[in-house]
Amino acid sequence: ATGIYTIPVVVHIIHNGEAVGTGTNISDSQVESQIRILNEDYRRKSGTRGYNTNPVGADTEIEFRLALTDPEGFPTKGILRVKGSKQTWTQEEDATLKSLSYWPSEQYLNIWVCNLGTNTLGYAQFPESDQVSGVSALGEEEAMLDGVVIGYKYFGDEGAVLVSGNDFRYGRTTTHEVGHFLGLRHIWGDAPIAASGCYVDDYCSDTPNAREANYDCPASDSTTCTSPKQREMVENYMDYTDDACMSIFTAEQKLRMRTVLENSPRRASLL
Ligand code: ARG
Ligand code: ZN
Ligand code: CA
Repeated sequence: ATGIYTIPVVVHIIHNGEAVGTGTNISDSQVESQIRILNEDYRRKSGTRGYNTNPVGADTEIEFRLALTDPEGFPTKGILRVKGSKQTWTQEEDATLKSLSYWPSEQYLNIWVCNLGTNTLGYAQFPESDQVSGVSALGEEEAMLDGVVIGYKYFGDEGAVLVSGNDFRYGRTTTHEVGHFLGLRHIWGDAPIAASGCYVDDYCSDTPNAREANYDCPASDSTTCTSPKQREMVENYMDYTDDACMSIFTAEQKLRMRTVLENSPRRASLL
């Protein structure tokens, strides 16, 4: 189908008791900057970092808006603040983190922002529940895990921690994780190099096959997958390059995300 899809978002700030706007208790404006970036990137908005002129680049026509009503139907700004029960969180502590604050994942894209330490930028649940639990109908416990988790130092582009030297200061971690949430794979297909990484795909033919993740900001790249060599799409949001180097979802990634939104029960219910 054609037309703009708008996804309601609730942001749960799981902080360490600091004053609002300091440390892990990030400001509303930092949150709002991340919503702005999602819309710039997913809409390929001209005049922003999310613009590109690649012929296979796409405006996904997917938008994000902080929730206007809470689960009881009362007005909200879609930003919740809860003091966490610990200082930093690992992915193994996912269920504990999310139990601190959660809105029904059938209705809202839940984004938890917390201190993930230094090794993890963020992580996400894929649309189908077997990624969560191996069953197709989610019980309440699994539903409570559905959403994305982002380190507070990588959320948005306005804030004390989003300064030069931070390679992930333009909010692309959330752009990337929401891509997973909507069914996108990494552009190299996640296969290990030893298992012929070149030939495992992301199910999008307009993202050239890639052998493995790219890091930093490679100006051109390096694919060794094809002969003659083909350029890997290092600027794709679903690679591992720095935020400053990312600027594209392709037409097929758009189709994949919209097909998921239209057909996956756990995503279609958001619309
Ligand atoms: N490593 C993370 C993942 O696989 C996120 C990578 C985000 N990259 C970025 N430039 N912000 O989901
Ligand atoms: Zn990823
Ligand atoms: Ca591909």
